Amino acid sequence: MELGSTLTQFLIEEQWKFKEASGEFTGLLVDIATAAKVISREINKAGLNDILGYQGGQNVHGEQVQKLDLFANDTFIQTLSPAKQLIAIVSEEMEDPYQVSEISPKGKYVLLMDPLDGSSNIDVNISIGSIFSIYRRKSDGGRATMEDFLQSGRLQVCAGYVLYGSSTMLIYTTGYGVHGFTLDPGIGEFLLSHENMRIPEEGKIYSINEAYTSHWDEGTRKYVEEAKKGEKTARYVGSLVADFHRNLLKGGIFLYPADSRNPDGKLRLLYEASPLAYIVEQAGGKATTGKGAILDLIPEKLHQRVPLIIGSKKDVEHAEACLNTHRED
Ligand code: AHG
Ligand code: MN
Ligand code: MN
Repeated sequence: MELGSTLTQFLIEEQWKFKEASGEFTGLLVDIATAAKVISREINKAGLNDILGYQGGQNVHGEQVQKLDLFANDTFIQTLSPAKQLIAIVSEEMEDPYQVSEISPKGKYVLLMDPLDGSSNIDVNISIGSIFSIYRRKSDGGRATMEDFLQSGRLQVCAGYVLYGSSTMLIYTTGYGVHGFTLDPGIGEFLLSHENMRIPEEGKIYSINEAYTSHWDEGTRKYVEEAKKGEKTARYVGSLVADFHRNLLKGGIFLYPADSRNPDGKLRLLYEASPLAYIVEQAGGKATTGKGAILDLIPEKLHQRVPLIIGSKKDVEHAEACLNTHRED
């Protein structure tokens, strides 16, 4: 399709190409894009909080200003709840699933999300993002149950993220390649800017929080040493979406491994690791815990954490090899 096509045009074309894609699903993605635009607009105003009131504080009118991560969470819920396709939403910001089934008992899908990723960067004008993942429900009608949420990442029907950076982008896959759209704020449309994205087989960038070196295991230390010898360069924003996106375009590896303080890593399987793993595999890259593919894991609980090593295929394989030769368990 031509660069510059709108997201909606692109989705409709895709729907025609792949018979199993239903119009309902296209509607759901359009709603996600709408929520992203609302969040993007709010994020662009974040610098005005000094005048209008800090997030979580009061503005000059004495009104409560919502924290941006909660605002993002509520925006997704409000925009997607009337979407008849969804029966429930699970979010990093909510202890329990939000059931939409009262409104749409015939819905086919559940959505899992990290509504705002990169919390340490929210107040300092550095790129942040939203991550989402969609599964077909497994239960028969009525409210969503745990089996609807705790599915292997391989069963995702769609995964994507929105990056609120120097421009706002939406990237998604439904298993037929990875496609990227850039928001034109003037017309309020996401326009096709990156069709069929492929991650370079090997990259020059490694992204890891090196302040934790003393907590790493031997394998992680060995890999980072070798990455340096291989003349890689370090880049770490501290917003997973931003680090991932840069490495997707330029080639590279992101690691948030298990360490002595966080034996399961920090990142969440269902709404950080799994969706990005689906995207990276679709783009020709790899994602592993160090012991096996992220997408092969069967989640045990909603907010489960998982070590994540993700990026260019050769780099991830190199990291895996280092971790395996120095495995301590
Ligand atoms: P969130 O803001 O959704 O809680 O995610 C936090 C993240 C992730 O975006 C980033 O890669 C990681 O935490 C950074 O953690 P460290 O500060 O420990 O490096
Ligand atoms: Mn996050
Ligand atoms: Mn978050």
